[in-house]
Amino acid sequence: MAATHAGPRPAGSPGRFLPAALVLLLTLCLDPAAALAPELAEVEPAPRLSVTFNPKSRRLTWDCRENATDARCFMLHKEKGPIEIKPWGKACACTFNYAPLHGGVTFEVHATVRGRPVREELLYPNPGHEGTAARNFSCFIYDAGSLNCTWARGPAAPGDVQYFLFIENTKTQTEQECPLYSPDSGTHTGCHLRDLSALGFRNYFLLNGTSLAAPIQYFDSIWTAKEIERLSPPDNVTVYCNTSHCRIRWRPPQTWIPLTYKDFTYQLDIQRRHAGLGSGTPPVQVAGEAENEYCFPSPEPRARQAVRVRVADVRGGPWSAWSRPAAFGSDTRAGPALRLYVPVVLGTLVCALVLGFLFRRFVGLRALCPRVPQVKDKVSSVDGVAHQVPWEDFAPGIRKGELEDVLTVEEVS
Ligand SMILES: *[C@@H]1O[C@H](CO)[C@@H](O)[C@H](O)[C@H]1NC(C)=O
Ligand SMILES: *[C@@H]1O[C@H](CO)[C@@H](O)[C@H](O)[C@H]1NC(C)=O
Ligand SMILES: *[C@@H]1O[C@H](CO)[C@@H](O)[C@H](O)[C@H]1NC(C)=O
Ligand SMILES: *[C@@H]1O[C@H](CO)[C@@H](O)[C@H](O)[C@H]1NC(C)=O
Ligand SMILES: *[C@@H]1O[C@H](CO)[C@@H](O)[C@H](O)[C@H]1NC(C)=O
Ligand SMILES: *[C@@H]1O[C@H](CO)[C@@H](O)[C@H](O)[C@H]1NC(C)=O
Repeated sequence: MAATHAGPRPAGSPGRFLPAALVLLLTLCLDPAAALAPELAEVEPAPRLSVTFNPKSRRLTWDCRENATDARCFMLHKEKGPIEIKPWGKACACTFNYAPLHGGVTFEVHATVRGRPVREELLYPNPGHEGTAARNFSCFIYDAGSLNCTWARGPAAPGDVQYFLFIENTKTQTEQECPLYSPDSGTHTGCHLRDLSALGFRNYFLLNGTSLAAPIQYFDSIWTAKEIERLSPPDNVTVYCNTSHCRIRWRPPQTWIPLTYKDFTYQLDIQRRHAGLGSGTPPVQVAGEAENEYCFPSPEPRARQAVRVRVADVRGGPWSAWSRPAAFGSDTRAGPALRLYVPVVLGTLVCALVLGFLFRRFVGLRALCPRVPQVKDKVSSVDGVAHQVPWEDFAPGIRKGELEDVLTVEEVS
């Protein structure tokens, strides 16, 4: 609209002036009141507010000499819709809150100047060619105190494009440039920030660029630290067992934004060692407590198992990585196996021996007729019985095995 407000009209040529005077005379005769307004417009040019916008201070300012009153400012944002701000007192300026501007915005000032309503518009585009801005920009806080950001070159960006990242704390309005780009040489496509002391709860991220070949569009975004913090896995997962129960304990993850135990929810994945983590029983969901623990019945002897824990924000959000697994129980696989297999194997052996003996005896009887060793056969049948003795003897052996199991479990606990 600013463009349509012409300055003082250039003096008309006499040839153009005459018909105008005629028209004026005519209208004066017909309706004197109607002629007054055009006459005033000729004398006083339509007021111009000369609106400007400073993206650094996010201030929309206009010419104070026009004594505009009842001013109202608007930001016409494609995603956020119109945002209205009123100036402070008699200031000829409005300060907008932080908003992403890379999509291009239109500002409007509505005011009253010398009794007339005035509306002035200012286009604030993202200068540069479409597709030159960095793409896929994302940032995350990790390990409770580091920030990584990544982005990709714009598809239409020239070969010599270089991108720069600026992060501004919206509360303190302090801006810092990324101290360490990756890669160090060549086009920057990432940023690593180890000192987050200047970071605020809400932050304005501006990713602009330069090139000798073409102007580069910028990309900007506002993220809260909470939105971008990735939770680390829970700390110090430990398992304590007595003869009947096991208790798993863990500590909440360290976070950069202050959180309480109520902000967390956990998942516990308890699996038999040989089944492989994540393959069997579904994870157990546990709400965060001041002292995180999960107690469950697990009578001895217990098989070797491992537990791992992960955490998420209770209000939703992605799960952290799994913690390192903590093992408990003992490798009792051989225990039940021995108990089951040894008698079977022994029984089979004894049966085989008895059968073998009988076979030899009958074959021997038929083939070799009466032989003295027949008496010895009885001895060997006694031998067979003797063979059975270890089998029965094995029962205490099993008890011994059980005892060993108990011992190993005690060792673990
Ligand atoms: C604005 O107000 C001041 C003081 O009230 C006055 O001197 C000045 O002429 C006014 N300007 C216009 C354009 O009316
Ligand atoms: C950005 O991410 C989208 C999907 O996440 C992917 O398809 C696209 O190739 C990425 N663009 C660049 C320039 O890496
Ligand atoms: C963060 O960036 C640094 C530097 O590029 C890199 O060494 C580190 O592995 C990144 N960390 C994560 C969690 O991606
Ligand atoms: C990028 O943004 C920073 C911070 O606002 C500014 O100082 C710098 O001049 C900008 N660079 C370009 C090329 O626009
Ligand atoms: C884990 O537990 C050990 C022993 O109690 C302790 O020394 C250590 O500080 C703990 N680590 C964390 C991160 O809590
Ligand atoms: C084992 O611990 C559980 C849970 O703390 C407890 O209820 C149980 O009495 C304990 N059993 C023995 C034998 O100490």
